[in-house]
Formats: sequence, structure tokens, C-alpha cells
Amino acid sequence: MVNFDFRNPTRIIFGKGTIAKLGPLVKEYQGSAVLLHFGGGSIKANGVYDAVKKSLSEAGIEAVELGGVKPNPRLSLVRKGIKICREKKVDFILAVGGGSVIDSAKAIGIGVPYEGDVWDFYADKAFPKKSLPVAVVLTIPAAGSESSLSSVITNDDGALKRFLDVDVIYPVFSILDPETTYSLPPYQTGCGISDMLVHVIERYCTRELNVDLTDRLCEAVMRTIIYNAPKVLENPRDYAARAEIMWAGAVAHNNSLSTGRIGDWASHMIEHELSGFNDIAHGAGLAVLVPNWMKYVYKHDPQRFVQFAVRVFNVEQNFHDPEETILRGIGALRNFFSSAGMPASLKEIGIEEKDFKAIAEKVKRSDPVKGTVGNFLPLTTLDILEILKLAK
Ligand code: NZQ
Ligand code: ZN
Repeated sequence: MVNFDFRNPTRIIFGKGTIAKLGPLVKEYQGSAVLLHFGGGSIKANGVYDAVKKSLSEAGIEAVELGGVKPNPRLSLVRKGIKICREKKVDFILAVGGGSVIDSAKAIGIGVPYEGDVWDFYADKAFPKKSLPVAVVLTIPAAGSESSLSSVITNDDGALKRFLDVDVIYPVFSILDPETTYSLPPYQTGCGISDMLVHVIERYCTRELNVDLTDRLCEAVMRTIIYNAPKVLENPRDYAARAEIMWAGAVAHNNSLSTGRIGDWASHMIEHELSGFNDIAHGAGLAVLVPNWMKYVYKHDPQRFVQFAVRVFNVEQNFHDPEETILRGIGALRNFFSSAGMPASLKEIGIEEKDFKAIAEKVKRSDPVKGTVGNFLPLTTLDILEILKLAK
């Protein structure tokens, strides 16, 4: 186990009817002038917007509104949000939606007190030291941004999608009411489930030894997702299953499962470029990449992938042929993604072989000195190209 220093400061308010607590909570955190940030209209169609407005107005809180966040949130709207916050003297940002809205809100939060351009933070030219408080009403369990220290923003100029990890952007609180997710279309439910499962896989695929507790915690979260996914896809109003999925999505990415281990994250870094390149849903891109990443890297620690197959997907272990066990595990993962309605190839998401080189070169390096991506097996540009070819 490696040493660690863990905390997750985001307060979670979970369950049916919890949006009614929003107004008093904003007051508790001293929000008086609020920016209400949201996406393309789902919250107006499913009643979440009305519930939010009601709770805020009952608490006497005025909100300036900024909707229009697109999936793969854009820098241009972040800049607009920063301008509005400064003009209206906003002191609290409320994100109502999914990862895209939350990440946009986080970017606005760090952009307001900063004198330079907010993209500096995503381009590693500056590091944010403070943020306006950001709170969340989550409507799609997926990205885990509701209790993560990350924000991912797309700069239309160059189609660059870049992430930032920093403590000051943990939301102060997040309201998770599983009933808000009843209105999710099956494809979005599937994308969310795939993303949260991969958040655990990225952590699970470590080269660290003696990480038994977190291995088993990861396995519990993965099995919970796999068990409940068909239930929510079959019956979108299954409260119990929606609740399991919603909590699993937060636990998958609140970093408790990273304690004592170093995860991989190459698939995420590569996927961000797929989304930046062709505006595809993050979970769909991951579902295409991860089984192929596994096929490319498993030989570097076969035992970990045998364990994954046996403990997560109940594959019967072939003691004479570990490779067979591993490949059956990867096949089970692939089938799971397909059952969640996810694509299986880059072609299906509109990415062709002629694009591979440009994408591989753009991927942000986790080790800028060595120029490699990921930790389980640090990947060079040539490795990324090979994985993209496997995924074509
Ligand atoms: O825009 P609206 O109309 O709200 O529709 C959204 C959007 O089209 C819809 N939706 C959300 N809740 C709904 C709903 N439709 C019906 N009923 C509901 N209750 O779902 C669509 C997708 O929303 P989005 O916020 O884009 O999804 P997600 O939560 O998957 O977020 C994806 C973004 O998060 C980033 C991804 O890269 C991507 O940009 N990530 C952020 C992370 C973080 N900050 O920690 C980590 C992740 O790995 C990820 O990279
Ligand atoms: Zn993700």
C-alpha cells in the first residue's frame, strides 16, 4: 500500500424529496446571490427546475440563471458565467444537472476570483487557489463530479478537452435524489453506468501490492453496478435500484477507492480526446476503449486480470490457462457494456482510422517528462495507436 492523505469534504444529502432542503442549505453556507447553472432543458421537463426554484424562493433566495451547458461543457459558456457572476456579484454557484453542468459550475467558481483567463488552469499555466462555493443537485449518476475534485472543460478552439484536479473545487454539498433520474433516457443511463464502472476499473488496475481492502471495496462497488444496471434499464422508476446506482456513482469517484493505490487513468485521458474530437458521450467512448486497453495491457500483470474476471464477473477460473480466464473476463465486460446499450467500436462513434494519429498525439500526458499516459503500463503514442487500432 502506498501512503495517502485522504479527505472528501463534500457533504452528501441523499434520498427522496431532498431537494426541498436546498434553500435552507444554501443559507447555511451563506449563499445570498446565487447563480443557478443548468443544461439543455431536461430539468424543466422533469420538474427538478420547479422543485429547485420553490425551495430557493421559500428561503428568500434570488437566483440569476444561466442554462445551456452542453454535454462536454464548453469554455465559451464558462467565460460567460464568470462575467455574469462578476456583474451580479454572485457569491454562490448552484449546479443542477450532471457532470457537464457541475464541471462548468466548478470552472466558473475558480474563474471569478482569478484575474487571468480561466483556461490557464486547464492548460497547466496557473493553479487555482480559491473558488466561489459550488453546490450540486445531481440529475444523472455518471461522472461522479458531485463529490470529486475534478472539472473537465472543452475548449472549442482546437477541440481540446482538458481536466483539472484541485481541492478547492470539491462541491460544498450535493443533493442526490434518485427520483430525479427516472426521466433519464436509456442511452444516458447506460453512459452513466459505464462511466462509473470505469472509474472503479481505473482504480482497480494498479501495480501496487497489498491493496486487499480497496480491491474488495472496488469489487463491491463494481458488482453493485453490474447487478443493478439491468434493473434500472428495465424499469426506470425502480427506486431501490436507482438509489444503488446513484450512490455507487458517487462512491466510485470520491477517491475513497484510491486510498493506498495508484490507479491507471490512461483510458480516461484517451477518451477525453475522443469526446473533444467528435463530441461523443464520455461513457460511450470509455465502453469502446476499456476492453481494448485491457487486451493490450493484461500481460503485464495477468493475476490482476484473472482476479477481475473471477471476482467481478464470476468467471470460472481455468488454473491451466490464465489467459483464457482473463479473456473471458474482458468478454464479460464487453457484453455488459453492450447490454447497457453502449457502442463496441470507434467506427460506431464516428471515429475513423485516418483520425487515430491526430487523436493519439493530442492525448494529455500524465508524465510530461517521459511523454507517457497512464500508470499500469505507461503508454507512448505508439501504444495509444495500437489500442485505437484494436478498438476500430
Ligand atoms: O442538458 P440536459 O437537458 O440537462 O440533458 C442532459 C444531457 O443531455 C441529460 N440529462 C441529465 N440528467 C437528466 C438528463 N436527461 C433526462 N433526465 C435527467 N434526469 O443527460 C445528458 C448528459 O449529461 P452530462 O452532464 O453531459 O452527463 P455526465 O454526468 O455523464 O457528464 C459528462 C461530463 O463529465 C465529465 C465528462 O468528461 C463529460 O464532459 N467527467 C467529469 C468528471 C469529474 N468532474 O469528476 C470525471 C469523469 O470521468 C468525466 O470525465
Ligand atoms: Zn469518467
